Amino acid sequence: MIATLFFEPSTRTRLSFETAVKRLGGEVLSVNDSAQSSIAKGESLQDTIRSVGNYADAIVLRHPNAGAAQAASIVSEVPIINAGDGAGDHPSQALLDVYTILQQKNRVDDLNIGVIGDVAHSRTLQNFAKLTSAYRPNLFLITPLGIQAPMELTRFLDQRRTKFRILHDWQAVLSSLDVVYINRIQKERYANVRDFSKITNFTVTTTTMTQLKPDAIVMSPLPRVEEIHPDVDNDNRAIYFQQANNGTFIRMALLAELCQS
Ligand code: NCD
Repeated sequence: MIATLFFEPSTRTRLSFETAVKRLGGEVLSVNDSAQSSIAKGESLQDTIRSVGNYADAIVLRHPNAGAAQAASIVSEVPIINAGDGAGDHPSQALLDVYTILQQKNRVDDLNIGVIGDVAHSRTLQNFAKLTSAYRPNLFLITPLGIQAPMELTRFLDQRRTKFRILHDWQAVLSSLDVVYINRIQKERYANVRDFSKITNFTVTTTTMTQLKPDAIVMSPLPRVEEIHPDVDNDNRAIYFQQANNGTFIRMALLAELCQS
């Protein structure tokens, strides 16, 4: 019996966790809107977690605050899976992303991987970059002007001796990339709409595709807004929907591992 508590918008993460539970023969209890739970009455997250743990064998939590999953795990008697904690982490996404690369390329070592977009605010870009450091990739952190790669990430990569470069322009490297991993500007993380509207993200178009290697792959955690033109979808190097499909398998594995008695 798995509880999914999603206090931030989600399509793929919640539904792939829920289908994963059901495919493993389990059942789902779910709260998808904090306005419909006792949180709206002023209950703390920790009290909610303590109570939900009575009804479920594990809790999948998405929450707008960084550190929420960690705080929940301190009081929880059942495993907590972090399904995204605000600007913090999204570890199961990183697992399915790296799995997708292994499936498509058989390796991560020595691949030229572009980590592209709002690296400052995107938990998926940050966690993806960190998880690739379990291998030996060449990372290119490619951020729009006005966005800096966070020190926390660059220090982490330095400590892991992961090769990376930071760029604000992708022209010089596009033709050498094996993996293009692009994510949207994280609008909801900007306190000021004016700051958000000043940022222009990179866009993958059919012209971009002509510059990429014939065997490059284009990935995204989705949702995409403007950073991948829909015309690119027909190119067989665009694998983001397959990538999303891998979410089910990775989450089945994760749940099976956690719920072994
Ligand atoms: C991502 C997220 O929620 O961080 N989406 C997802 O889980 N597949 C990426 C995003 O929202 O941009």
